Amino acid sequence: MNILRVVSVSVLVVTIAMYYESILLILKPFFPPVDWPIFRNLTNTTNLLSRQLTELNIPASHVIIEYRVTSEYLADIITRKGLPLDNSDKIAQYLRKLGKQTLNSGEAIERMYSTSNSGLKELGMELKFIIEKIHPDQILTRQNETYFAERYKKILDIVTRLRDKFKETKDELDELHNRLANGMNDVEIFFEKISPVLNEYYDMEQVKRDLGYLKQIMEKVPDIREQINHLLYEFNQHRLALIWCRGEWARLWRRKLVSFEDIETLENMIKELNNVSKILKKKDQENVEIRI
Ligand SMILES: *[C@@H]1O[C@H](CO)[C@@H](O)[C@H](O)[C@H]1NC(C)=O
Ligand SMILES: *[C@@H]1O[C@H](CO)[C@@H](O)[C@H](O)[C@H]1NC(C)=O
Ligand SMILES: *[C@@H]1O[C@H](CO)[C@@H](O)[C@H](O)[C@H]1NC(C)=O
Ligand SMILES: *[C@@H]1O[C@H](CO)[C@@H](O)[C@H](O)[C@H]1NC(C)=O
Repeated sequence: MNILRVVSVSVLVVTIAMYYESILLILKPFFPPVDWPIFRNLTNTTNLLSRQLTELNIPASHVIIEYRVTSEYLADIITRKGLPLDNSDKIAQYLRKLGKQTLNSGEAIERMYSTSNSGLKELGMELKFIIEKIHPDQILTRQNETYFAERYKKILDIVTRLRDKFKETKDELDELHNRLANGMNDVEIFFEKISPVLNEYYDMEQVKRDLGYLKQIMEKVPDIREQINHLLYEFNQHRLALIWCRGEWARLWRRKLVSFEDIETLENMIKELNNVSKILKKKDQENVEIRI
C-alpha cells in the first residue's frame, strides 16, 4: 500500500514538473509578464566607470619613468668616486632600488592605458551582441536567460581583468611609497655632507636639481595612488553589480525585458565607451611618443 502511494505521488510530481511550463503558459493571461529593467544597472555602473577612466590622467613617462636615469646617475656618482662616508653603499643601493621601482611603476601606469583601451573596446562589443538580441517588450525564455547570463559572464571577465591590471599598478606604487619614500631624506643629507668633495668634479647645482626632481616625484606618488585606488573601488563596485545581475538572470523567466528607452540608453553607452576608448588610446600614444 505504502509503496503504491509513494509511486503515485512520485508520478504526480514528475507530471507536474514536466508540464510546469505548459501549465504556466495556460495561466499566462492571468499573470502578465512584469517589466524588469535589468540593463539599467549595467548602464549605470558602466557609465560611471567610463567617466572615471576618462579622468585618469597620469603622464607616466614624463613624471615617473625618466627618473630612473636621474636616480642611476646619482648612484653612479657615489660608487664611481668611492665616497668616504659610512653609508655610501647604502645610499647608492637605495638610489638604484628607487630607480628600478620608478621604472616598474611608470611602466605599470602605461600599461593601464593600453589595457583599458582594449578592455573598453571588448566591453563595447559584448554590449553590441546584447543589443542585437533584444527588442522592446521581449519576454524572456529559458534559452534567452542562458544567453544573457553568458554575455554577462564575459563582461564580468573583462572588468575583472581591468581591475587586476589596476591592482598591479597600485601594488607597484605601494612598493615605491611604503618601502622607498622615507629614504630621500638620508640621500639629501648625504649629498649635503659630500658636497665639498664632489664640487671639484660635478656641477653641484645640477645634482641638487636632480635631487629636487626625485623628491618631487616621491611627493606626487600618494596622489597617484589615490587616483588608482579610487578606480579600483569603482571596478569592484561594478563587479559586485555584475555578479548580482548574473544571479538575477536565472530568475527572470517570463519577465518583460526592456523598454525602447533602455535599448537607446545601451546604444548611447556604447558610443560613450568608444569615446573613452579613443581618449585612452590618445593618452597611450602620447606616453609612447614621450619615451621615443
Ligand atoms: C542609476 O544611477 C542613478 C544615479 O546616478 C540612481 O538614482 C539610480 O537609482 C540608478 N539606477 C540603477 C538601476 O542602478
Ligand atoms: C530568445 O528566445 C527565443 C525563443 O526561444 C529564440 O527564438 C531566440 O533566438 C532567443 N534569443 C536569444 C538571444 O537567446
Ligand atoms: C539594480 O537596480 C535596481 C532598480 O532597478 C536596484 O533595486 C538594485 O539595487 C540595483 N542593483 C545593483 C547591484 O546596483
Ligand atoms: C563622443 O565624442 C563626441 C566628440 O568628441 C561628442 O560630440 C559626443 O557627444 C560624445 N558622445 C558621448 C556619448 O559621450
